[in-house]
Amino acid sequence: MPRIFSGIQPSGELHIGNYLGAVKNWVDLQHEMETFICVVDYHAITQAFEPEELRQRTHGMALSLLAAGIDPEKATLFVQSHVREHTELAWFFMTLTPVGELERQTQYKDKSARMESVAAGILNYPVLQAADILLYHADTVPVGEDQIQHLELSREIARKWNARFGEGYFPEPQARLTPTRRILGLDGQAKMSKSLGNTVALLEPSAAIWDKLRPAMTDPARVKKTDPGNPDICNIFQLHKAFTPPDTVEQVAAQCRSAGWGCIDCKKVLHQGMEEVLTPIRTRAEALQATPKRVAEILGDGASRARTVAQRTIAEVRQKMGFD
Ligand code: AMP
Ligand code: TRP
Repeated sequence: MPRIFSGIQPSGELHIGNYLGAVKNWVDLQHEMETFICVVDYHAITQAFEPEELRQRTHGMALSLLAAGIDPEKATLFVQSHVREHTELAWFFMTLTPVGELERQTQYKDKSARMESVAAGILNYPVLQAADILLYHADTVPVGEDQIQHLELSREIARKWNARFGEGYFPEPQARLTPTRRILGLDGQAKMSKSLGNTVALLEPSAAIWDKLRPAMTDPARVKKTDPGNPDICNIFQLHKAFTPPDTVEQVAAQCRSAGWGCIDCKKVLHQGMEEVLTPIRTRAEALQATPKRVAEILGDGASRARTVAQRTIAEVRQKMGFD
């Protein structure tokens, strides 16, 4: 059976960009493939953090993933720091990865440009990511578009290691994108991202979502309600495609083009579509919040399943590299 691996940082709340770009795919794929989902807390400490907050966010992210539909009977959900082998494999990979290649990573360039002093961990972030994936011999990695470059690097690392220590040992992992590979923020300008403050959280209450939708960017050329709009360049319409039933999406497009509906009418329909998707997620989250021990238990089980695979890989890698 093909094996998938994906990770998400416990950096704040899960938002609908994460959900549509990646997490929804995990929920769908867990039924067809052996699935490992990892809350990558070691990656998160490459940014400023507080220990107590990190602990809470890691728990919160696991809870949100379960609420979103990750089924612990189907998928192995675990926390990266619970499986020590990740950092050991990352070290081996660091010794094979050219610094120049790491410096060319777009995310590294963006992050480091905003920093006065750049920690080596930021540079090596994608090497740890390669270790995450390859430790489980995963061949498919469902992520958003922003991770494609990191995955190219993972493949290069796999090729290099294989050429040097064991041809064919690691698979070359491929990205698997969703149809909504890049969700823009409600400002319609940039990628939806926690750090830009333009997100809708997956667990956000209905009224708060509406307060964000109402002023959100639509077709910039549509000034008055009587102007016909162009759904293809409207960010709200992109969200309709993800949340609204297909028949209604067609109706939305037609009403926009003919100026039958104003943007507020259109947003009300979107809000309703979002409610249908998000209400069961909120309900599951509430149930889990009432039983925090259940989340810890699931993560404990997940870590022990993950460890079994990780320990076998590390033992083989150590053997092939001349350590044992
Ligand atoms: P992050 O929040 O950066 O840890 O991302 C977690 C996952 O969500 C990764 O697979 C990202 O590619 C994906 N992702 C993050 N933001 C977006 C977005 N605005 N649109 C689509 N996918 C996203
Ligand atoms: N870099 C990823 C992100 O920001 C998170 C991540 C860490 C990851 N390790 C991974 C994603 C392994 C996929 C596979 O979203």
